Amino acid sequence: MSRTQVGIVGAGPAGLTLGHLLHREGIESVILEARSRDYVEARLRAGVLEHDVAELFDRAGVGARMRREGLVHTGVELQSGPERHRLAFDELTGKTIVVYGQTEVVKDLIAARLESGRPLRFGVSDVSLHDLDGDRPAIRYAHEGDEHELACDVVAGCDGFHGVSRASIPTGVLQEFRREYPYGWLGILAAVAPSHDELIYARGERGFALLSMRSPELSRLYLQCAPDEDLGAWSDDRIWAELQERLGVDGWTLHEGPILEKGVTPMRSFVVEPMQWGRLFLAGDAAHIVPPTGAKGLNLAIRDVHVLADALVAWYRDGDHAPLDGYSETCLRRVWRAEHFSWWMTTMLHRDPEGDPFDVRLQQSQLRHLRTSTAAATALAENYVGVERA
Ligand code: FAD
Ligand code: PHB
Repeated sequence: MSRTQVGIVGAGPAGLTLGHLLHREGIESVILEARSRDYVEARLRAGVLEHDVAELFDRAGVGARMRREGLVHTGVELQSGPERHRLAFDELTGKTIVVYGQTEVVKDLIAARLESGRPLRFGVSDVSLHDLDGDRPAIRYAHEGDEHELACDVVAGCDGFHGVSRASIPTGVLQEFRREYPYGWLGILAAVAPSHDELIYARGERGFALLSMRSPELSRLYLQCAPDEDLGAWSDDRIWAELQERLGVDGWTLHEGPILEKGVTPMRSFVVEPMQWGRLFLAGDAAHIVPPTGAKGLNLAIRDVHVLADALVAWYRDGDHAPLDGYSETCLRRVWRAEHFSWWMTTMLHRDPEGDPFDVRLQQSQLRHLRTSTAAATALAENYVGVERA
């Protein structure tokens, strides 16, 4: 049996950031990850960092490459049919966002972890959590053919939506809140320079589309599709033709290029309350999911573990357990703000297959309000760049 202070399940953005923040405060942790390093580093997901999350990476000493290679954006475009309208985040809120892929965030955090010399085990299996309601919880797992038991002070469940942590909490403890959407996103990564220098969120009769990017040479684009869309039915030509239809406006060209990757992401909203049971603390996707339209999933995960790291520091250093006791409540305030914002952006911009013309008029009215009211535009901008006090 081995021992550590904080046992971290999952080496996604949440688990890796937590391990790093704790290391900087001299707190030990072991990070256990089911997948291989290559798999985790290549998993294509989010791309937008909130202003304060980018600054947190700076302060934590893992922001150097993000500052060199990340793209600072001062606004986004909202498109309704053929009309585009720019929201200037810097003018409305004084803040900006950084477009930097989750793959790159994860690579930077893994590099920092390896440099710290603290344990990070890839390819673990049969992970199970024990004695979470006592003061000496344990994690059992298999690694390279051996069985292990890790005794901890606390366990951080950072193992995503399908992980074991949330499922280890006895039935009846957690209250679940969910919303399913009648659509998903078909996303591509393409080897072509982005056709616009900022993100374009487009609503239209054929459904939603988003133009995003990963670098000056790589475009990331999404199309609203069915939640169970058959990727096989989408040739590269069909994807580009549909993107042209949904994003096209007069006097602007969507450049096409080789598609390097494509995938379908279902959309859901999900929250559990509380985000803690005994000595187990849930963080990131293990506790909540948002549809990607507000670009909040990755940011929320980082915000959770920031709160958790500070609370653990107060506990270890000063014996103060109030911040740990308040962990769930503190996080849930921000989580629900992001849940509302993500739901709102999603319903405003997607075509509801079961909707009627009344729904369409409401969407058009909201988008018009954003174009004509600085107050409305500021509210969107404030949520997008990340609200200061949730
Ligand atoms: P994860 O990144 O899911 O990390 C959890 C880790 O735990 C994984 O590495 C997993 O392998 C590991 N794990 C799971 N089970 C175990 C176990 N039993 N033992 C050990 N390890 C385990 N957000 C956006 O903002 N924009 C997007 O475009 C976007 N696209 C997405 C596309 C997909 C397909 C998905 C699933 C999510 C997307 N998100 C997006 C959401 C965003 O990527 C997540 O919110 C973010 O990854 C959350 O980080 P996390 O560390 O909490 O969880
Ligand atoms: C992305 O670049 O992957 C991205 C950007 C904004 C979103 C979702 C995804 O809202």
